[in-house]
Amino acid sequence: MVAPETAGNEPQALSNLLKENRRFAPPADLAAAANVTEAAYNEAAADRLAFWERAAERLTWAKRWDTTLEWKAPFAKWFVGGELNVAYNCVDRHVEEGRGDKVAYHWEGEPDGDTRTLTYSDLKREVSKAANALAELGVSKGDRVAIYMPMIPELPIAMLACARIGAIHSVVFGGFSASALKSRIDDADAKLVITADGGYRRGKPSALKPTVDEAVAECPQVEHVLVVRRTGEDVATNGKDVWWHDLVERQSDQHTAEPHGAEDPLYILYTSGTTGKPKGILHTTGGYLTQTAWTHHAVFDLKPETDIYWCTADIGWVTGHSYIVYGPLANGATSVIYEGTPDTPHRGRFWEIVQKYKITILYTAPTAIRTFMKWGDDIPAKYDMSSLRILGSVGEPINPEAYVWYREHIGGERCPVVDTWWQTETGAIMISPLPGVTAAKPGAAMRPLPGIVADVVDDQGNAVPNGGGGFLAVREPWPSMLRTIWGDDQRYIDTYWSRFEGMYFPGDGAKKDEDGDLWLLGRVDDVMLVSGHNISTTEVESALVSHPKVAEAAVVGATDPLTGQAIVSFVILRGTAEESPDIAAELRDHVAKTLGPIAKPRQILVVPELPKTRSGKIMRRLLRDVAENRSIGDVTTLADSTVMNLISEKLPSAKSED
Ligand code: WT7
Repeated sequence: MVAPETAGNEPQALSNLLKENRRFAPPADLAAAANVTEAAYNEAAADRLAFWERAAERLTWAKRWDTTLEWKAPFAKWFVGGELNVAYNCVDRHVEEGRGDKVAYHWEGEPDGDTRTLTYSDLKREVSKAANALAELGVSKGDRVAIYMPMIPELPIAMLACARIGAIHSVVFGGFSASALKSRIDDADAKLVITADGGYRRGKPSALKPTVDEAVAECPQVEHVLVVRRTGEDVATNGKDVWWHDLVERQSDQHTAEPHGAEDPLYILYTSGTTGKPKGILHTTGGYLTQTAWTHHAVFDLKPETDIYWCTADIGWVTGHSYIVYGPLANGATSVIYEGTPDTPHRGRFWEIVQKYKITILYTAPTAIRTFMKWGDDIPAKYDMSSLRILGSVGEPINPEAYVWYREHIGGERCPVVDTWWQTETGAIMISPLPGVTAAKPGAAMRPLPGIVADVVDDQGNAVPNGGGGFLAVREPWPSMLRTIWGDDQRYIDTYWSRFEGMYFPGDGAKKDEDGDLWLLGRVDDVMLVSGHNISTTEVESALVSHPKVAEAAVVGATDPLTGQAIVSFVILRGTAEESPDIAAELRDHVAKTLGPIAKPRQILVVPELPKTRSGKIMRRLLRDVAENRSIGDVTTLADSTVMNLISEKLPSAKSED
């Protein structure tokens, strides 16, 4: 076996293989009326802290801060001495300023016709009652509250009630298991769990309460479980249980929002990463709300009077925290929340919702976009989506072809697409085009937002030149950054601040193109080393998806006696494409032509599905097990645990070409 190093090739910086010449300039009318223009970049470059101060002034503070940033690396404090209440900013102030009748949320349940509308006045009443209920249950400032709920209005209401009294919420995605819930309750030492009997998914009630019962049975620190009745299915009750409709409904709808310190904790959100025990990412109050609100205003060009905004994420992920709850409400937006899945009761459900509510801004994930591509162009074509004006993408690199499909088939070729890069840890968008400013390139997140200083660096932490690849790094603290890992400062330092001196390391590979624009290339753990070349899985996947027969692709590096690692690809074909005997050869040639012979996959497997986490990210670790003929590792974080069987069944046909 010849390892790449001993073959005389020093591993080099991340190769930059994909060339993309398409550009989409902002529509002239959008640019002319844009909330944020090119000037913002210059203002922030001239004085970054003054720029963030102006962003903070968009909020209502009970007491202005004394110091904008106190930076004892890697620990940041923003707006030190300032006081504000997040729930007041998200709800009360809009009512006080005469916008009480404006809709905050149009809620669409999964069962047809199951809808609710909450105005800002409604939200103020409900959040006040819930805050009073939490107080009656003995929850006070600084206490931790675990929230395990479906996508129903009581979820944001519960979060805002916690924020209002200064309790720290820890939302656990409703698809997690009892053991995952238990470990998160334990880690944060939560005294209250808020849940529901269940929610609707794929056309039927899906229970949540039994999972909570199982977890709480082993969590003596939990004093109460507050349960919303959503599905009406029978649930076991025990001495800790309190029904939401019993407790919350009888509370006063008056509640005074006391101001909290800018650096008081707002929430913990666990992120699993690829290995180890989940990390409790801690976000605080003033800086977090400043950056979520400003980025929502800037990146989506939100006009609160006229826009109808829909982020399709689950509130259980950070995207939902920042861009369904805190950012949009702080800006007084009207949003849609949808409870269910995109294929219930039919595959046009999303577009039906866009048509029904006349959505103007849609924010979704590449995994969803690729699924819609697979289902076929004819489905969105049946709906009137002329209301849309801006499209967003988040969660993974978006392949240029998926971007162009989204722009054409959803955006009618008129809507800018903003590819927004950020993480649970960053709290808010960091790198993204601005829809009224940027001539965007499909697949590129383009430039750091004003006020964000990020770069692509080599192994040594030196900036790579234009045209080069390496690691993404953030050079300066930002307002919505995580403050630490809950209860583990050392792990915070080791994970994010030890790879490069004085810089935040997100763990993503990236490249700077010839114009200096940024392309995110996925986790550095996924980078493949083929004959001494570091090749990103993203670029090969994008090349595969650029073939007209391919809807989705996942690529991994498998040990190879000749090249160190060889590229193995798993592809899902588009709805209309036939699986022909020579499809593998055709796709291998296509990749070689698009990226060069070095990137030519050794093997191509056509599969019906790909293994994904519950947040839609491809689990390449499991595909590596398949590619290296190992027994398949831990599948507990898979959204659908049967997928690996479907893929393994395809294995006998896995031929090594050449
Ligand atoms: C990781 C963070 C951000 C909210 C949802 C995910 C990947 C996210 C992009 C993008 C390329 C992206 C990165 C990042 N990622 N957005 N636009 N382009 N990659 O939050 O679960 O904390 O995941 O998602 O790898 O590090 P998360």
